[in-house]
Amino acid sequence: MKIKTAKFVISNANVAKCPEDDLPEYAFIGRSNVGKSSLINMLTNHKGLAKISGKPGKTQLINHFIINDNWFLVDLPGYGYAKASRNMRNTFQKFIKEYFDKRKQLVNTFVLVDSRHEPQKIDLDFMEYLGENGIPFAVVFTKADKLNQSTLPKNIATYKRIMLQTWEELPPTFITSSTTQDGKDELLKYIDSINQSLA
Ligand code: GTP
Ligand code: MG
Repeated sequence: MKIKTAKFVISNANVAKCPEDDLPEYAFIGRSNVGKSSLINMLTNHKGLAKISGKPGKTQLINHFIINDNWFLVDLPGYGYAKASRNMRNTFQKFIKEYFDKRKQLVNTFVLVDSRHEPQKIDLDFMEYLGENGIPFAVVFTKADKLNQSTLPKNIATYKRIMLQTWEELPPTFITSSTTQDGKDELLKYIDSINQSLA
């Protein structure tokens, strides 16, 4: 699939104010700093589309981007950002959860996990929540460029093994790097296949 246009639509903390269009949307979620915004920029060939930062906690709102005028990518704040004040964290968590509970247009969620780290409870818990609520998701391993050829497959295998302790079947998985653009074609193809199945 070719990305012809990618445009920012709206940012907000209120699910009721998200675009009303009945277009399919794909959300990117995961811990702060995992690379959600970078991945959106990589997929859309658009460096400044989503705001990125070396410091966690950059994305603080629900951000809708419209792609090829017929589907949305949604950049979300990270969960588990330890440095945010407790109050801010609660507000985030409330509207993020509301987004997943209420957003009918959401057709697939990409749960991003850092390929350097062992499975984290917060990510596994979030996947469980998605599963319990019947929200389809795929796991995206990020920052693959930071690992060498032998560590990367080892870490992915460990991750899958741990997931299989609770899941009967693994969700689709993607190995990506926003730096090298690894995984870009596979992710776009996956999105395209879902879009096609809805058409
Ligand atoms: P929040 O909005 O704070 O939740 O973070 P985020 O998940 O959107 O992460 P963001 O895209 O802002 O990236 C965080 C940091 O990781 C930035 O310094 C990026 O340059 C870096 N980064 C993201 N993806 C990659 C990657 O694939 N490879 C490398 N080497 N660095 C990356
Ligand atoms: Mg971000």
